[in-house]
Amino acid sequence: MPHSEKMSKGTALITGGAVRLGKIFCETLAKAGYKLAIHYNSSSQQAAATAEKFRKAGVDCETFQFDFSEKNDVSDLITNVRKQFPDLNVLINSASVYDQATMMETPELILERQFKVNFQAPYLLTQAFAQQCRSGNVINIIDNKIAFNQYQYSAYVLSKKTLAEFTRLAAVELAPNVRVNGIAPGVVLPASVRGQDYIDWRVEGIPLKQQGETDNIAQALQYLLTNDFVCGQILFVDGGESLTNTGQNSANYK
Ligand SMILES: NC(=O)c1ccc[n+]([C@@H]2O[C@H](COP(=O)([O-])OP(=O)(O)OC[C@H]3O[C@@H](n4cnc5c(N)ncnc54)[C@H](OP(=O)(O)O)[C@@H]3O)[C@@H](O)[C@H]2O)c1
Repeated sequence: MPHSEKMSKGTALITGGAVRLGKIFCETLAKAGYKLAIHYNSSSQQAAATAEKFRKAGVDCETFQFDFSEKNDVSDLITNVRKQFPDLNVLINSASVYDQATMMETPELILERQFKVNFQAPYLLTQAFAQQCRSGNVINIIDNKIAFNQYQYSAYVLSKKTLAEFTRLAAVELAPNVRVNGIAPGVVLPASVRGQDYIDWRVEGIPLKQQGETDNIAQALQYLLTNDFVCGQILFVDGGESLTNTGQNSANYK
């Protein structure tokens, strides 16, 4: 059945929705019966192509450009989306930047950009969403790196750990009208610079001995959206990788 023939469940705004995992979230939400507000920053062609694909399938869909690293009012994005889709009721904070740098290698510019895109934007978007939409769901896309002290990604990890704490705080503040939860993916879609050797090596360290499929993340999104007794949770979808931090103990003492 074409999507348009289903009863609309409302509209979902997906930040960074034009490519990679963001696009998977769009597909998941369209299948679930939502209209789509696809946010992008630099991927204008991919956003247009993605939107066209959805429209052909009967999904009501628009694209919205916004750079979260610039000095501008992030709440404008929610205002603009609501002009087009007054029934906005889902916000997926997926846009993110990922810089590898220790604290000693991190200039102020990188620290600022990591926090503006990965934490400040989701914070201000959630605030504007709650003020303007008044009810619905917010899902923050975090990272299983929050379970570790990977100082080699200092500003990135700190921005995601802060986003995880914000997820819990906002969940309490905004309940019962807005439900806030998070997903912490593990190895699913590694950056294109990563080769198969690297992925195989990472998989060795994962208890379930497998790389995640995008469908595993899509299922987590569906679960958090539909289970209305779940509040302020961060669902790790990582094959157990985040549980491997055993430390030194008498059993492994030689
Ligand atoms: N991929 C994985 O396996 C994995 C693992 C752990 C966690 N995650 C998390 O899952 C989410 C999606 O991951 P991904 O790998 O699919 O994403 P990604 O390729 O790292 O990028 C996501 C999007 O962020 C947007 N973005 C970057 N800078 C921006 C800015 N200044 N203003 C506004 N938007 C900006 C980009 O939009 P444009 O392309 O339009 O510029 C991009 O499409 C992220 O939050 C990531 O941390 C992913």
